[in-house]
Amino acid sequence: MTVDGRDPDVFKRFYELKFAVRREELEFPVGLGLEAARVLMTGEHSDLRADGLALVDGDAWLGIAWLDWWLLDNTDTVDVELAVDPAYRRQGAATRLLEAVIERARAEGRRMLTGINLAGDPVTGESPGTAFAGARGFVRKHAELHQVLELPLSEEQLASMERPVPGYEIVQWREHTPAEWLDEFADLTTGMYADVPHGDRTVEATRWTPELVREAEARRVAQGRFTFTTAAVHTASGALAAYTQMGGTPETPDRLNQYDTYVHPPHRGRRLGIAVKLPNLRSLQSRLTQPAVLHTWNAPENTPMIAVNEKLGFRPTAQRTAWERAL
Ligand SMILES: CC(C)(COP(=O)(O)OP(=O)(O)OC[C@H]1O[C@@H](n2cnc3c(N)ncnc32)[C@H](O)[C@@H]1OP(=O)(O)O)[C@@H](O)C(=O)NCCC(=O)NCCS
Repeated sequence: MTVDGRDPDVFKRFYELKFAVRREELEFPVGLGLEAARVLMTGEHSDLRADGLALVDGDAWLGIAWLDWWLLDNTDTVDVELAVDPAYRRQGAATRLLEAVIERARAEGRRMLTGINLAGDPVTGESPGTAFAGARGFVRKHAELHQVLELPLSEEQLASMERPVPGYEIVQWREHTPAEWLDEFADLTTGMYADVPHGDRTVEATRWTPELVREAEARRVAQGRFTFTTAAVHTASGALAAYTQMGGTPETPDRLNQYDTYVHPPHRGRRLGIAVKLPNLRSLQSRLTQPAVLHTWNAPENTPMIAVNEKLGFRPTAQRTAWERAL
């Protein structure tokens, strides 16, 4: 059945199955909370439409598919997350959901199905999800190491790693990018999306505009999410040289995410990555009301970023892999 995100009971059931499977598969389950997911599925967004399918037998929910239909870029692609209740596995539930997804995707003119397997073993990358993907015609395109860091770090730990970079000033903001930085921040975000390693994935990088930045900010606020941004400004030119973003939601106070970290190419090689991450971490953890875990994902080939994270104390917990199937 098609899941109507506006029906509170149906959406809750759908979300609970999706998240119960993540809880089952991951040492640290991650993902949007119920309300944030509902905003995504029921709201009007210019970049994305999200909807879902469920395989239901009487009162039993066997499995679900969450679908992301990209609207601005990657418009021939649908992204799918499949989750099957462990009690109903190896009975073809995911295969039936996949068939329904393919039928809908083709009917809407999409030519590519993508999916992320979150729960791979940190070393081999294997999981039931990768076995399923391989058996059903998906090709593995990329891998990312999932690292976690237990917070708070002590003031001594933070101070021992802190090295201000001469010639740069630190600026910070919360939910809204200050107007004076908006254009440059949109450009840096575009650079981030273009430069982040994609392996063999077929991705068209988003061209970020000030309007899209504002829309993403408004959506995060509507979802109840909070964000901490720290940027480095090159004093001589006044240019925005690097930024990092971390955040979370009060729904899951023990779970925080490291989002983008980007150093503009002319400013690389000066340790600006750690120079923006540390003050951001300090601001973020100053608001903690309880211990929390900070999550981050990076391509294994992104060695500079992984090295920065290891220095901060991150450890590997899983490997997520990106898969594609042509339709
Ligand atoms: C991956 C998942 C959706 C598969 O659901 P399922 O209903 O058990 O899958 P199916 O019964 O349709 O399996 C189809 C084929 O995939 C392969 N497969 C599925 N699970 C497997 C496993 N644990 N080990 C080895 N092969 C597996 C088999 O070839 C299987 O055919 P077979 O049973 O005839 O041998 C389910 O294990 C799950 O929810 N995992 C956690 C979430 C996840 O990883 N989702 C995928 C990311 S989008």
